[in-house]
Amino acid sequence: MLAAQFTKKRTWLVIPGIALACFFLAGTLGRPLHAAQAAPISKKLIKQGQNIFEHTPDKASQYVGSTLSCSDCHINGGTTEFAAPVNVAQLYPLQSKSAGRTLTLVDRIQRCFVRSENGKPVPADSPVMTALVAYITHLSQNEAKGQVPKGRGLVPVPELTGNPSRGASIYQAQCSMCHEANGEGIPGSFPPLWGPHSFNDGAGMYQIPKMAAFVLHNMPQSSPGSLTAQQAIDVAAYVHSQPRPKLDPANSKY
Ligand code: HEC
Ligand code: HEC
Repeated sequence: MLAAQFTKKRTWLVIPGIALACFFLAGTLGRPLHAAQAAPISKKLIKQGQNIFEHTPDKASQYVGSTLSCSDCHINGGTTEFAAPVNVAQLYPLQSKSAGRTLTLVDRIQRCFVRSENGKPVPADSPVMTALVAYITHLSQNEAKGQVPKGRGLVPVPELTGNPSRGASIYQAQCSMCHEANGEGIPGSFPPLWGPHSFNDGAGMYQIPKMAAFVLHNMPQSSPGSLTAQQAIDVAAYVHSQPRPKLDPANSKY
């Protein structure tokens, strides 16, 4: 009788005991998982990403076919308004008009590698991609999900027709002192605008209105904003008429 009562009492205690154990187990298992999700991206990875962004041919040489760094177009490490700043991670995945499909941030970066860098697609799980995504995510940390940041993309330009021969004179007078008369720039100082080390004909910058928009707001680097829209279109039309690499058809799906 006494023994039976004792057993009963123990059963009575076992149930809350199990419940308590589950609670603690869930706590210990749940906590590190939660911490990992909320953890800030490591500073080291962000720094690596920034380094790749600013010295792309050097730090990601196996994927790059030009002498262009991401930051030659995405000025100041991708932080300058209307120079296609990259504080845009919160917008992805995104339906892209030019690609005709939904792009993740990784897809978008691959697109710039294959076209703007005249290179190869970077595998999604590679250290180079992981670091670039970390850097771009870090730059986007203060942007609300889906929020289009001020200064995204490039400035609007009126629809004007470019005149390449007028553009040639503008180029000689306002661009060639940095980008050189042959358009090839000076490696490490001034990026190429055409020739074998430039972006290929699948790049956004190859489109005359896009280059004009970039130039209108950001060039000449010594006095940005000094050209008229017509001059920007003319000089873009001239640059467009010069030779450059072709997009490898095997990469056109990117
Ligand atoms: C030759 C110039 C050029 C280079 C080099 C370049 N890009 Fe771009 N990138 C562009 C242009 C132009 C756009 C489209 C801007 C637009 O149309 O609004 C773009 C768009 C992007 C976007 C999307 C921006 C948005 O608003 O959604 C990301 C992200 C990006 N590039 C990352 C990179 C990375 C990373 C690299 C280096 C590996 C790189 N780009 C190299 C020109 C370049
Ligand atoms: C004082 C030097 C200087 C002058 C002048 C200058 N640029 Fe640039 N340009 C640069 C530098 C440096 C970059 C890289 C981005 C940055 O750091 O500002 C660049 C980037 C570019 C890019 C994007 C990267 C690439 O290579 O495709 C284009 C396009 C461009 N310039 C066009 C022009 C045009 C057109 C003119 C003349 C109207 C011009 N630039 C005048 C220095 C100059």
